[in-house]
Amino acid sequence: MFQASAPGKIILFGEHAVVYGRPAIAAPVTGVQATATVTPGRPGHGLVLELPDVGQRVAVTADSAQQPLAHLAALALHALALDPPPAWVVTVRSTIPLASGLGSGAAAATAIVTALAGAAGVALDPAQVSALVYESEKRFHGTPSGVDNTVIAYGQPVWFVRGQAPEPFALRRPLTLVIGDTGIASPTSIAVGDVRRAWQAEPARSEALFDDISETTWAARRAIEEGDGATLGRLLDRNHGALQALGVSSAELDRLCRAARQAGALGAKLSGGGRGGNMIALTAPAQASQVTAALLAAGATRAFATQIA
Ligand code: MEV
Repeated sequence: MFQASAPGKIILFGEHAVVYGRPAIAAPVTGVQATATVTPGRPGHGLVLELPDVGQRVAVTADSAQQPLAHLAALALHALALDPPPAWVVTVRSTIPLASGLGSGAAAATAIVTALAGAAGVALDPAQVSALVYESEKRFHGTPSGVDNTVIAYGQPVWFVRGQAPEPFALRRPLTLVIGDTGIASPTSIAVGDVRRAWQAEPARSEALFDDISETTWAARRAIEEGDGATLGRLLDRNHGALQALGVSSAELDRLCRAARQAGALGAKLSGGGRGGNMIALTAPAQASQVTAALLAAGATRAFATQIA
């Protein structure tokens, strides 16, 4: 009846600091995606969410507060003025690994909202989709900055500052990245909560690290605009160092970043919440397969090259 897809995402620069008002640069990753399909359901049964990847089937009711995606679907029904709820089944499938820093939750939510709007014959703009998805992000991880829902709903690289309209971001040259997965599931909420506790305990130390990340992100913006890959690589390394100091890296992420650099990457960092999940490495296009192989040899459970254009 109606199908919509949403990409995964990576944070190029600025994760965690973005929760505290600093800028971030994020980009969609089209090699992985979530897809929502709306089909007719049983009359009188209202809206049902099928999540085969996690073995769940949830009836969407006005007080679907427990399951974040069901809560999101209830909000979408309200926003789309679908009252009473139509007897539809929304089936969500995703190739984005869960809790891996690639925006699996925001992508599933974006696909659901877009598919419901399409099935209802309503056109929603990216800002409306993003605002709805932000509500479910709050369920997933407490104090989200909004960067994940924004980059996924807009489907293009963005310069993002919390509370401000996102700036779609122009790249002078496409960037070749290799994304490596530690295979360790790490919910964003845990890393974000730990960073908050450290900030409450030692605000000056955390603020200094956020400022350092902010400087790196501004410098990265200039390097991207100038097409200066070598500088961008060094800035990725610097951002990774600040994230290590914030306590959100891990031995596995550090090992994969080192392996990527040794295999010729221009720079590497963790991407997203950290602790586990994915890292990214910037490479010259010709180096991408070598870096991918090095990541797999160093223990990545999967690694793939992608272009951010
Ligand atoms: C998660 O992709 C990015 C974080 O900065 C959290 C957030 O911005 O909400 C870690």
